[in-house]
Amino acid sequence: MSMITIPDFPKTKKLKSIAVLTSGGDAPGMNAAVRAVVRYAIANGVAVSGIMKGYSGLLEGQIEPMKLSSVANIIQRGGTVLKTDRCPAFLKRSVRKEAANILVRKGIEGLVVIGGDGSFTGASLLEKETGFRTIGVPGTIDNDIAETEDTIGFDTAVNTAIEAIDRIRDTASSHGRLFLVEVMGRNSGFIALSTGIGGGAETIVVPEAALTLGKITGAIRRGIARGKTSSIIVVAEGPKPGLATRIANGLAKNGFDPKVCTLGHIQRGGIPTAHDRMLGSVLGAAATAYLVSGKSGGMIGLRENTVAFVPYRDVIGKKKTLPKFAMSLAEILAT
Ligand code: F6P
Repeated sequence: MSMITIPDFPKTKKLKSIAVLTSGGDAPGMNAAVRAVVRYAIANGVAVSGIMKGYSGLLEGQIEPMKLSSVANIIQRGGTVLKTDRCPAFLKRSVRKEAANILVRKGIEGLVVIGGDGSFTGASLLEKETGFRTIGVPGTIDNDIAETEDTIGFDTAVNTAIEAIDRIRDTASSHGRLFLVEVMGRNSGFIALSTGIGGGAETIVVPEAALTLGKITGAIRRGIARGKTSSIIVVAEGPKPGLATRIANGLAKNGFDPKVCTLGHIQRGGIPTAHDRMLGSVLGAAATAYLVSGKSGGMIGLRENTVAFVPYRDVIGKKKTLPKFAMSLAEILAT
């Protein structure tokens, strides 16, 4: 684990009261970020509230003042103690206006949003339309947020998936079997790529690159020709989970006898790695410092392994590219 470069945080204090919420899919390390927001704010004399259940809880007024002890013993826990939600209602302008009114009535001047692209879209629109200050912290196992090299939860999810592959490899090699392992990643293949390289997969299927059945069977046959008795193919679930099963059906029609293992939400839970705890702590504290100083309208991410503020307009809806060479490298290393 390389040490994140932490530049000095802003020292100005313009805001006296802020709030924090987690939104979208939970990710291991979110609790470290929540803890950092709460403790950094209090250490700087700023009042901090916790909003339960993301934007849904905000609309329901589920807002509680936080103390130092509110975040004791959570850094090692997966999930999010603030709970989370996907909130389609927040797509409505009138609903966002109501959310800002609720926050203002509570005397809150700024909001830290820990989540992914959809959560940042909500935060950005809220700020543009009402002037209410928000700042984002990238928290998603997918690592699919533009302009940040890393997101909270990605490292833990990849480690969980690799551990599963190691176990599957034991049975695959004992029986001489072909396995397809489906990992998460709705729109992006970062989990599949890192899991595939780290787990020594023969082939990796990602949403970014169309891979035909012919190419997949070609890779398996090349392995068999050079004496391999078992193979593992890592498949990102893509927009419609179950892709590994659909590929397996195609392989079965081509004379193979594949087994499918879908890891699903197992990858989202569990104890966060040291890296995700560090990342959550640093990004959470930095986001608080920037917000309290009056800086908002963007995300705190990692650029060249250094904490950096990035405006929402450079992040939201932008595609983070999967390194193409890494895909072919995975195949070279598996031959
Ligand atoms: O965005 C995180 C993620 O875990 C994706 O990898 C996955 O495709 C999706 O969320 C699953 O969402 P849900 O938990 O709502 O089924």
